[in-house]
Amino acid sequence: MLDNLSDPVFGLVFDTVDIGLVVVDIDGCVVGWNAWMARVTRRPTQQVIGKSLYEIFPDVRNTRLPGIIEDAFQVGSSSILTHTLNALLPLQGEGGEQILHNIVVRPVSSEHDNFCLLQITDVTVAVTRERVLRDRQNARYHAIVDSAPDAIITIDDNRVIQWVNGAVDHVLGYGHAELLGQPLDILLQADNQLVSALSESSVDQKSDAAISIVGRYKNGKSGNFEISLGHWRADQRDFVTTIWRDVTERAAADAALRDARDALQRSHDELESRVEERTREREIALRQLHESQKMESIGQLTGGVAHDFNNLLAVILGSLSLLKKAVPQEPRISRLLDRAIQGAERGATLTTRLLAFARRQELKVEFVALQKLIPEMLDFLRHSVGPNIEIRAEISQEVGAIEVDANQLELALINLAVNARDAMPQGGSLTIACHNETSGKSIGLSRDPFVCITVTDTGEGMSEATLARAQEPFFTTKGIGKGTGLGLSMVHGFTAQSGGTMRIRSQPGKGTSVTIWLPRAKEGSKAANVDMPLAQPKDARSLRVLLVDDDILVSMGAADMLLDLGHSVTEAQSGPHALKLLESDAPFDLVVTDYAMPGMNGFELAQRVKERNPKLPIILATGYAELPADRSIEFGHLAKPYTSKDLAAALEKAVM
Ligand SMILES: Nc1ncnc2c1ncn2[C@@H]1O[C@H](COP(=O)(O)OP(=O)(O)OP(=O)(O)O)[C@@H](O)[C@H]1O
Ligand SMILES: [Mg+2]
Repeated sequence: MLDNLSDPVFGLVFDTVDIGLVVVDIDGCVVGWNAWMARVTRRPTQQVIGKSLYEIFPDVRNTRLPGIIEDAFQVGSSSILTHTLNALLPLQGEGGEQILHNIVVRPVSSEHDNFCLLQITDVTVAVTRERVLRDRQNARYHAIVDSAPDAIITIDDNRVIQWVNGAVDHVLGYGHAELLGQPLDILLQADNQLVSALSESSVDQKSDAAISIVGRYKNGKSGNFEISLGHWRADQRDFVTTIWRDVTERAAADAALRDARDALQRSHDELESRVEERTREREIALRQLHESQKMESIGQLTGGVAHDFNNLLAVILGSLSLLKKAVPQEPRISRLLDRAIQGAERGATLTTRLLAFARRQELKVEFVALQKLIPEMLDFLRHSVGPNIEIRAEISQEVGAIEVDANQLELALINLAVNARDAMPQGGSLTIACHNETSGKSIGLSRDPFVCITVTDTGEGMSEATLARAQEPFFTTKGIGKGTGLGLSMVHGFTAQSGGTMRIRSQPGKGTSVTIWLPRAKEGSKAANVDMPLAQPKDARSLRVLLVDDDILVSMGAADMLLDLGHSVTEAQSGPHALKLLESDAPFDLVVTDYAMPGMNGFELAQRVKERNPKLPIILATGYAELPADRSIEFGHLAKPYTSKDLAAALEKAVM
């Protein structure tokens, strides 16, 4: 082909192409030099033909070009020299500006000879455009990186800081230049997670997840940071760009939020448990209310029935005792009468228990020292429970005195002891213990203070079902004819009427313990409650008695007793009737009146009588606690059912 250089067509093409073409022979002498080359070197072709390339461009000797040309001749290899890595030929454009170029070196062989063709391509425009683009890109990149709120730090593979953005100043407190060349570790606390994350990750195994670490500001204080890592490689070296986001405030806010949430949760839990507790308490209170309402209505019912029975028993007992006096002393008749009296008396005991349960018992409240009362009862109790049961009393001296009806208290203790006995058929032990209790609030009692008497046995105990119903009147597990089911009812009624209460704890096989709460006597009440000595009976004298009762049967029985005692009797069926009789100037020494009467009751009548004739003694006969407690002391008092002896004693006391 080179043989054709002188070919006019070929020569025309050779000079027309827009790249530089240079042909050198094996000695390095130029044999071809096209017009493009002549233009950019300012050397016409004739001037350079035959000259050594290195003569034309002396500096080229120090470049890679001679070696590459050599290789083309020796081994026939082709190569490219680019402007970026190599300083090449001193070529200039029309304005004298440097022409950036690449050179392709190729071996060219003809039949006779070997040559080397250099193709020089002008890349000035492309490179300049690329530079402008890159500069623009760089400017954009710096604008982004420098305006980023997070600190951006690039380190090399030895963790030495190579580059930082402007934000390191306000994020970490360091000036821009201060960090360059420093180890990254000055920004980290010892044992930092970032160090291990850096050693574990690399360009090839990227981990995108941000790492939370504790870092160090320039002032030595520590802060919380979230760090993202970006690995990259350039010039055979690995770099990591780390982006530091300061989350100290957010972490503090999160912690505060967590604390607040925890506190909220805690108070929510507390509230819930309080609500649960209140609901439970309410349920218990409702159950207790229901229980006490039930007891109340049973009490009213039994109380009413017992009251009527009481009146009838009074009549029967009165008549029987009179009859006993009236009939001749015949053994058979007297035995029958005694049995009838016993029966009636048992009936009276039963009504007493019923009235106690119904809290309508006539209570004679007095000062009771348990240190005295209980030991005095022990013999009787031992006798009642039998030799197989050991009875112990535990009452210390500091146990205060109580204000109750002593007889009723004794009855209650006997009932409890008998229950214990029945629960211990094989024997066991029974303990009566007393202690002071300052407040009854825990069990719903409003007045203070109390004494608790606890009767504990080692018997068979109660099932849950029995325990739930034990205090109900007529509830018994002892079989028909053996238990009336009124023992605990009586104790319950008595304690409630006395201002206290009763609690039972029992488990099958583990015994039972019944605690009764009774009000402690107030300071100084001992003197006031000491029993007045009974007056000596005066000489019996005949009294003119006005007897008031709406129940004819009761009235007749009482009249018979009065007559039998040697007194004269005028009967009135109502209060107004009695007042009329009193106005009629009929002389009376005494008025005995029933309390429960329709229209004007006994108490109202007594008050009216007292207004007119303050000196006239009055006795109120009551079957149950219906008398206003504070006023009853103004008048004499007789508890129904009464015997002729009770009546005589009351008359005696009244006219004393
Ligand atoms: N100490 C106790 N141990 C085991 N069960 C008892 C005890 N006290 C009472 N109970 C149970 O409670 C029931 C009711 O007792 P409560 O005293 O009211 O009547 P009762 O003993 O059956 O009859 P009453 O008292 O008229 O003899 C008893 O039948 C018994 O089942
Ligand atoms: Mg009993």
